[in-house]
Amino acid sequence: MQRFMITGGNRLSGTVKVSGSKNATLPIMAASLLLDGKCTIRGVPRLRDVAVMRELLIYLGASVVWEKDVMHIDTQGVGYQDVSEELMRRMRASNLVLGPLISRYKYARISYPGGCDIGSRPMNFHLKGLQTMGVSIKEKFGYITAEAKKLKGSEIYLDMPSVGATENLIMAAVLAKGTTVIRNAAREPEIVDLQNFLNCLGAQVKGAGTDTIKITGVNGLNGAEYTVIPDRIEAGTHMVAAAITRGDVLVTNVIPEHLEPVINKLREAGVYVEVKDDQVRVAMDKKPLAVDIKTMPYPGFPTDMQPQFMAFMTLAEGTSVISETIFENRYKHVMEFRRMGADIRLEGHTAVVRGVPGLSGACVEATDLRAGAALVLAAMAGENGTVLDQVEHIDRGYERLENKYNALGARIIRVHS
Ligand code: EPZ
Repeated sequence: MQRFMITGGNRLSGTVKVSGSKNATLPIMAASLLLDGKCTIRGVPRLRDVAVMRELLIYLGASVVWEKDVMHIDTQGVGYQDVSEELMRRMRASNLVLGPLISRYKYARISYPGGCDIGSRPMNFHLKGLQTMGVSIKEKFGYITAEAKKLKGSEIYLDMPSVGATENLIMAAVLAKGTTVIRNAAREPEIVDLQNFLNCLGAQVKGAGTDTIKITGVNGLNGAEYTVIPDRIEAGTHMVAAAITRGDVLVTNVIPEHLEPVINKLREAGVYVEVKDDQVRVAMDKKPLAVDIKTMPYPGFPTDMQPQFMAFMTLAEGTSVISETIFENRYKHVMEFRRMGADIRLEGHTAVVRGVPGLSGACVEATDLRAGAALVLAAMAGENGTVLDQVEHIDRGYERLENKYNALGARIIRVHS
């Protein structure tokens, strides 16, 4: 197990570059299974989750050469569709191989995926959409077996705009016979990136970024090179890091429109935010004002930024009401913040955060990826020292976070215990 020893009280200042998007890279890697050939992905972040997806592709027979931030994938060797439970349970996004495998092989068998401890995370919308396309689904002993003679283009309505279901169904429709329309689709930028990657391979996908996506099936795909978008959640995390430590940081390699909900909320809290091309400058020299947030599907305030913003609000002037509408159990970080002196009351899916004068160091643990990142922010803003356990969670979604923050003046030591 690895832990961070964090000394608080240092303002962050300087420049930090955002890596490629984890949540764009993972579906794009899965989509490479649709191709019987080679493709190259650039801007790939060095993350544990990306390493797990690479292991999954190799297990299925692909070759995946990953040097620095460039990944060469060759899926000519892919033939094996039963995915091991051990691999599936390591990451929720493993379920993204379902769409490509059923699309290319008309058969796939996966176990229910694992992932962060933030909710039950069922796959009913994924499976219902596949059944609409003519796929027979059998669920037994935690395994899903999907089979189809052929996939037919269909009209699919998602009961809620699920990111993963939208991505899986797009990938299932790429090689289907006819046209598929997905309504009430998720609109996240990572879905637009998946569409752009697929169209580079010769697919015909339109409408990603809106709630209606149209896929015209094609017979086959060709190899291509593609660069993934920057990670908007990493960028948002760094922006809050600058604000909570009352620092002054230039965050580079961003797409500002992807950050709009976070920029607006930071400004509402009194933070100076200046947007220029692919950079955002964030500066703060006083206590923030308490603001309310309600997590919503994109373009609303992202659930993946809820823990980080809560950290910020624990030190605000006044009381902030935070509503988590996406996941049913995404408040594990509240207990940890309380150990640092935060005043937070949970009422169902709502957290009432009353600002306190300061946070004090404590022994805390990362309960999931974003909670871990949020605790780093709280510890950097807190007084004296914090020990943060289970930082492996953080490595799932952030490239050596301690190096990025130490370069800005933080004092974080990684300890292998
Ligand atoms: C993606 O997860 C992201 N992961 C998550 O980021 C993100 O929090 C989430 O979208 C919401 O934005 C990746 O892209 C790899 P959903 P996903 O399907 O696709 C329920 C991070 O920190 N649901 O939009 O799993 C589900 O239980 C991670 O980077 C069903 O009920 O999210 C959840 O409550 C965490 N049935 C809600 O919908 C289904 O069939 C949203 O899930 C599918 C989902």
